[in-house]
Amino acid sequence: MANITFSHPEYKDKTVYAVAGSHTDTILKIAKENKIPIAFNCQDGECGTCLVKVTHLSDGKEKGGPLTDKEITVLKGLGKITQEQVDEMAVTDMDHPWRLACQMIVRDEDLRVEYGVE
Ligand code: FES
Repeated sequence: MANITFSHPEYKDKTVYAVAGSHTDTILKIAKENKIPIAFNCQDGECGTCLVKVTHLSDGKEKGGPLTDKEITVLKGLGKITQEQVDEMAVTDMDHPWRLACQMIVRDEDLRVEYGVE
């Protein structure tokens, strides 16, 4: 079970419970199921509309899926990640806060997901 708190600068935070383990539920899918109005368009990791800032709240647990190649391409295009950061993440297994909601798969961990932020 994972608690996901969706946060927007103008709305009240909303925490939802996501059943982890399917390895198919993206942040965007869970948001839609819970009527969280994250903006989206392509739903295929190409347009960058669903940009979110993710904070991992549970220490020592399994982390969300790593950045996909599509996310890296789009995030670079948006200026949210540099090649140096990509290289560093490959060796340190570090997390990156900026993600695409339609690409990030939720695992068994608590997350804070900020949307509508630039
Ligand atoms: S909706 Fe287009 S990248 Fe997620």
